[in-house]
Amino acid sequence: MLRRIKNILALFTATPPSASRTDLPETLKLIFNRRSCRSFVSGDISAQDIETIMDAGRFAPSTVNLQTWSFITFDRTQWQLTFERPIPFKGAYAIVICADHQRLSELFSDFVETPAINMSFAIFNAGLAAMSMNLAAEALGIQSIMLSETGRTGLLDTAFLAEKLELPEDVLPLTTLVLGRGSMKMPGIPPRQPREAVVMPISYKPESRGMLKDWFDQMFIGFKIGHPLSNFEKQLAFYRKKMLEAEQVVRKYFVR
Ligand SMILES: Cc1cc2nc3c(=O)[nH]c(=O)nc-3n(C[C@H](O)[C@H](O)[C@H](O)COP(=O)(O)O)c2cc1C
Repeated sequence: MLRRIKNILALFTATPPSASRTDLPETLKLIFNRRSCRSFVSGDISAQDIETIMDAGRFAPSTVNLQTWSFITFDRTQWQLTFERPIPFKGAYAIVICADHQRLSELFSDFVETPAINMSFAIFNAGLAAMSMNLAAEALGIQSIMLSETGRTGLLDTAFLAEKLELPEDVLPLTTLVLGRGSMKMPGIPPRQPREAVVMPISYKPESRGMLKDWFDQMFIGFKIGHPLSNFEKQLAFYRKKMLEAEQVVRKYFVR
């Protein structure tokens, strides 16, 4: 019981320990204050801000500077026309971020024998680009969220997106970055795993697994508070089913 109370409190009071440093540069304040936003208001984003966010993605670092990504962009109307529903959470703009090895595969035949490596690098690079765009938006005062499930927007709906967006063979839709003007201050911070569980000096620490009890309890409580009428186990089972379906589709990107 005491543990439960401690975990509920932790959910509402947690901040990154380093955020309390008094000498934090602005960039780090931005990183620590970033939160995924799930409720947007009607305001638009200027064309100039969109261009800046796209540039932040294009100028992200990548393996051998190969830039293995594509960004498919939508304003509200374009999204509605394509998907026949609004952008999730009433966002103003959406960017489907894809790991893209198509251009390089066409340019160089040498890549043919290493599909798993190609795709792994492409995913990593596209993830870096996504985070650069996310932080660029935040710096411009624009809120955002990355989605891979909600609203059929990413990896778990690869087959659906590949068909809708007419993606070529080596283009894997990873996530949709939804941008907009946030309508609320987000309460609490989704719990992070303890520092000792993930930071491992010198070698891997197998005991890190045993440190996740409180974290999982906090995740569970957080879900209950956010979705009082939903069943956690049912939600997990639904997610699991989507993962199993997507597994069959995504596997093909790694073995050609
Ligand atoms: C690749 C990716 C996919 C995500 N997909 C979803 C999603 O489908 N639905 C959702 O509500 N949140 C999604 N999120 C947001 C995470 O739930 C969120 O980042 C996490 O809970 C930590 O919260 P924070 O971003 O506010 O720090 C996704 C985040 C990432 C990076």
